[in-house]
Amino acid sequence: MIVTHIVGARPNFMKAAPVFQALAGLGVSQRLVHTGQHYDVAMSGRHFDQLHLPVPDVNLNVGSGTHAQQTAAVMVGLEANLLAERPSMLLVYGDVNSTAAAAIVGAKLQIPVAHVEAGLRSFDRSMPEEVNRVITDGLSSLLFTPSADGDANLLREGVQASAIHRVGNVMVDSLVRCLPLANADHVLQEIGLSGRDPFVLVTLHRPSSVDDSTLLERLLESLGSLAHHIPVVFPVHPRTRDRIGNLDVGRIHLTEPTGYLEFLALQRDARLVITDSGGVQEETTYLNVPCLTVRDNTERPVTVSHGTNELVGRDPKRLLERARASLSSPRTSRAPIDLWDGHAAERIAAVIRTNLN
Ligand code: UD1
Repeated sequence: MIVTHIVGARPNFMKAAPVFQALAGLGVSQRLVHTGQHYDVAMSGRHFDQLHLPVPDVNLNVGSGTHAQQTAAVMVGLEANLLAERPSMLLVYGDVNSTAAAAIVGAKLQIPVAHVEAGLRSFDRSMPEEVNRVITDGLSSLLFTPSADGDANLLREGVQASAIHRVGNVMVDSLVRCLPLANADHVLQEIGLSGRDPFVLVTLHRPSSVDDSTLLERLLESLGSLAHHIPVVFPVHPRTRDRIGNLDVGRIHLTEPTGYLEFLALQRDARLVITDSGGVQEETTYLNVPCLTVRDNTERPVTVSHGTNELVGRDPKRLLERARASLSSPRTSRAPIDLWDGHAAERIAAVIRTNLN
């Protein structure tokens, strides 16, 4: 009985690591397949080291491409591998192209697919991730949800209640484990800040925020205005770096993408986080750090109802107004979210072991 984990892109790694470790603790045989969707040290290799993920058994080396090219390359490479290895179950994570591609291959080879982070919906099919979520959930026989909205979405789509397991947020497991080691001193020192200086942390990488050059320019203007009052630290995803090109970034501190431990520390210590990422909305919620999300919708509504996250849409003026308002408001203490407790992976592993028998 072998369980094969499929990972491909940066946000998969912190979800897979605790599940891999929990299954190892139960003595389950496992293989790790990296699709190679992300391949740079900064986007992949360093995260593997920091999260203590083993070297993958296989790397499909699919690299970058259009959605169809990337998805198809994962499917072709993975099919050959799974036909040779015939695992008892495939474990897929999140909503990236590698996740949906793996779910299709697994379902067609009649290998049960288990989806970690199932049920999230933005109800916005212009997002590639939403398409990936719908495909993956539709083809999975075990669906591990992080919150009650996930269960409700799946039930509404006709998923059998017995296939849904609300286990909590597995990304929080990695966060809880790694937070004591989190440190961003060298990232801050390189841009002339010390750990005690207040700062705003920014991440933007979605096509909806960075692919329209006029919008990106106006977002950078707003962030540049903010940077006159408080340092703005912006670790730049390669896609965003490409889009920024020669645009004026004013006083914004652009840095390379950071490691996981560095990024956790930056989130923990930021006065405010501005993002279009899904995972960052959740991590700031756990850390009780105010977050402004530069999107019109979120597949993680619990972060908004909890009070840490606010959707500001893609209007740069509104972003600046809300950032100023947030920076001048005191921080409220909040109760933790149910099952975001650092033990989601143990719950997942227990269900998987039962289903392998
Ligand atoms: C992917 C996910 C997105 C996730 C993000 C996290 C999909 C559809 N999108 O988006 O949900 O939030 O990862 O980072 O799967 N590149 C490099 N080095 C790398 C990887 C990528 O330079 O290691 C560059 C390439 O120019 C590439 C671009 O980044 O074309 C985009 O990479 P891609 O994997 O297509 O999507 P992301 O934008 O990273």
